Amino acid sequence: MMSKKIFSVAVDGPSGAGKSTLSKAVAAELGIVYVDTGAIYRTIGYYVFCKEIDPKDAPAVIAILPELDIQMRYGDDGLQRMYLNGEDVSTQIRLPQISMYASAVSAIPEVREFLLEMQRELARRSSVIMDGRDIGTVVLPEADVKIFLTAAAEIRAQRRAKELEERGTPTPFEEVLRDIQQRDWNDSHRAAAPLRQAEDAVLVDTSELTFDESKLKLLEVIKGRVGA
Ligand code: DC
Repeated sequence: MMSKKIFSVAVDGPSGAGKSTLSKAVAAELGIVYVDTGAIYRTIGYYVFCKEIDPKDAPAVIAILPELDIQMRYGDDGLQRMYLNGEDVSTQIRLPQISMYASAVSAIPEVREFLLEMQRELARRSSVIMDGRDIGTVVLPEADVKIFLTAAAEIRAQRRAKELEERGTPTPFEEVLRDIQQRDWNDSHRAAAPLRQAEDAVLVDTSELTFDESKLKLLEVIKGRVGA
């Protein structure tokens, strides 16, 4: 039995490390809420894409922030859905071209600031496992457990290519790998809250681990910190 106190688990790492699939599975096992923060950046990226704005044009992106009403709700299946100005955009934000938009808008400090309180509020309401790039370093620096999840770029690209194929949007491996390397670079070299391992985070490299082994490893780390 987990203790009654509310606790938070921060999971950070590069694209395709398995953060969302693993965090979702761990959340179900522990009966806590899974928060996918990348989906929030993707929602802004999607809006910018629809408005035909250059996602690197910071003043133009900042100017549209007041037009955004972003809501995160949980469906009957327990899965997180994103609503943009009342419309469910959960499917659209997963389109491959939206990834780069999300990565570009996430480099704008005003965009990060705009989303900060929303993310913190979610962790105040209930026990969460929240995944992203800066959860352990910026969003929840007091998180009870911090995990930095990573894997070799080639392995991440293989997993992402398989996922895209299953979703009906097959993409050549080379293209997926290039996209991952480009996003790794963008996400870890930006000035605003770059991707980096928090000093007190536990490093988990899933390159050589199966999904079940990775899940067990995360559960072991979490239970070791918040009491089993
Ligand atoms: O996790 P994801 O690939 O869905 O995230 C999309 C983009 O959003 C990613 O390239 C970086 C950005 N992001 C971020 O900067 N901070 C977060 N906490 C989550 C995502």
